Amino acid sequence: MSRILVLPGDGIGPEIVAEALKVLERVGEIGGLDLEIDQGLIGGAAHDAAGHPYPEATRGAARRADAILLGAVGGPQYESLERDLRPERGLLGIRSDLGLFANLRPAILYPQLASASTLKPEVVSGLDILIVRELTGGIYFGQPRGIEERGGERYGFNTAAYSESEIERIARVGFEAAMKRGKRLCSVDKANVLEVSELWREVVERVGKEFPEVELSHMYVDNAAMQLVRDPKQFDVMVTGNMFGDILSDAAAMLTGSIGMLPSASLNSEGVGLYEPIHGSAPDIAGQGKANPMATVLSVAMLLRHSLNRNDLAERIEQAVGRVLDQGLRTPDIFGEGMTLVGTQGMGDALVAALDD
Ligand code: IPM
Ligand code: MG
Repeated sequence: MSRILVLPGDGIGPEIVAEALKVLERVGEIGGLDLEIDQGLIGGAAHDAAGHPYPEATRGAARRADAILLGAVGGPQYESLERDLRPERGLLGIRSDLGLFANLRPAILYPQLASASTLKPEVVSGLDILIVRELTGGIYFGQPRGIEERGGERYGFNTAAYSESEIERIARVGFEAAMKRGKRLCSVDKANVLEVSELWREVVERVGKEFPEVELSHMYVDNAAMQLVRDPKQFDVMVTGNMFGDILSDAAAMLTGSIGMLPSASLNSEGVGLYEPIHGSAPDIAGQGKANPMATVLSVAMLLRHSLNRNDLAERIEQAVGRVLDQGLRTPDIFGEGMTLVGTQGMGDALVAALDD
């Protein structure tokens, strides 16, 4: 039996997760999976109900789960909360608590969406890159951090820091991923300015010796941002730290037409994974039934692949996404002339139906 914890979160989270669950349940029937699916609270929803964005009950359930499916967290109503109680802290809390250091963010352009990208079709057609983002270290978690009174004014500070072992294990994930794909790895840093990046580069080089078949390159993050929009197909796998990965993965998402299409997996060294779309809670469209559930549905595919070892079922979901796009169904974020506009539920129903085709 596999225990799946579902954390819908805030904003559009509950809507998109509901559709992803329909897909998971159907695929479970098809594939004969024995699933125990539990729901829990995280983010603003958890703060509202339990006074904390990552409550004890969720922590306990998360530690028992084999895999976690998460919607999104955050919303304008929570911005005035004390820093430690904000929804984002719930997400950072669960990532850190479970040691989910390896964040895989594939950016794949479905050919049907080539015209939905803001970039020219020839620049993005056939795009298939993987961003491997370190998720439990770097400036997101470095100490000291804070806002203090210094010299008669307030002073805000964070610490960008990585230990050799942290760099080594994420580099290894990058190389291993590259071995399964195009055997090219680009490590992104800011080694011309930051000591932490200097060490990053040195350690990545060292780990690279264990992977002689992988062609390793290094790129400064500012250039990487430029190259991603200039010629994204030059990349196969990119490996980078927490904050650079956060920024570059949003840029990569837009290459694929919509941030509503991109799933992610966050894994620890024991194979437990948290799966979530890379987009946020989109409070502006929450509750209107127009959010694109595909990124969450594709996150279910990643869950099946990485935590349940069912590549066959993952592919079945990915093919269903392709089929529904072939049918011309589009949520507003990927809508274009001649297509059929559908809402969140309509898209979910079509995906479930396409699983059986
Ligand atoms: C992401 C998000 C989060 C992050 C936020 C919501 C804390 O932007 O998963 O990319 O910065 O990691
Ligand atoms: Mg982000």
